[in-house]
Amino acid sequence: MLTTATTSTAARLPSGERGAFARDLVAGLGSRPRTIAAKYFYDAEGSALFERICRTPEYYPARVETRILAEHAREMAGMIGADADLVEFGAGSLEKIRLLLGGMDAASASLRYVPVDISRDHLAGAAAALQAIHPALRIVPVAADFTQPFALPDGRRRVGFFPGSTLGNFHGAEARALLRRFAGLLRGGGLLLGIDLVKDPAMLHAAYNDAGGVTAAFNLNLLARANRELGADFDLRAFHHYACYQPMTRRVEMHLVSAKAQRVTVGGRRFAFAEGDAIHTENSYKYSIEAVRELASASGFRPAACWTDPERLFSVHWLETL
Ligand code: AVI
Repeated sequence: MLTTATTSTAARLPSGERGAFARDLVAGLGSRPRTIAAKYFYDAEGSALFERICRTPEYYPARVETRILAEHAREMAGMIGADADLVEFGAGSLEKIRLLLGGMDAASASLRYVPVDISRDHLAGAAAALQAIHPALRIVPVAADFTQPFALPDGRRRVGFFPGSTLGNFHGAEARALLRRFAGLLRGGGLLLGIDLVKDPAMLHAAYNDAGGVTAAFNLNLLARANRELGADFDLRAFHHYACYQPMTRRVEMHLVSAKAQRVTVGGRRFAFAEGDAIHTENSYKYSIEAVRELASASGFRPAACWTDPERLFSVHWLETL
């Protein structure tokens, strides 16, 4: 790592949301291995790219989870109950909640839907679109990073919705801590959790290396975002997307690999890369159904029901708080 700042790094880093990205990126590029938290994928551009990933033929999780939710929406609605605050963690485009609402009809008038998402603008637009389809539904959007403490509206029984295998982006201890925090927030309720399952590595490899290059663009958008927001000077043609499944750790790893020796400036700091040096951008852990149940039991929940598809590619769990 080169540190040839002409002014102090702190003086050059922006404040607020951008400040957190700048601080974490500078710290991550200075550490070994080089890492950055996967949550920084999701600016407006990254969120749109993720929605495109979900429509690629290779990325089965979105398709299969959608099928499971659509097929079992009524049963799931029965467990959620009518007079609850339904809190979706990392709500994104609010697509999946529509499937659950499809199973609720009459109940949706007394349900309050609380989508929580880090992207305030994306959330406002998605909430307005959902309201147009469900005029009777009470929607209380909360713009917050769900990995950090945040406030929720008070007074009613709470049920969580955490689809899309987002829990898989956290390693063991982090996943346990996150679920424990959710269990505290959802006191007396439950959590509907969607999580991807262990399977043939070839299928996993294809899902994170789609032929159309959408996942590569999603990964590289991290560097594009740093250029846009932080005035960094990453050469996007000089870093390559690399994703592979590691059977020993049961996770897909994503990296950005330097194609040559180069130097990059971020927040007034210069960082040297040799050819082949990598930035680790994401882990995506895959679980067995038993491992999800064990994790839930160790994190303040009682596993109560599980739905899967005939090929057991993906699973949705109903977990009750203890
Ligand atoms: C959001 N998350 C669960 C996705 C995953 O599969 O880990 C993000 C993603 N990364 C590459 N493709 C999709």
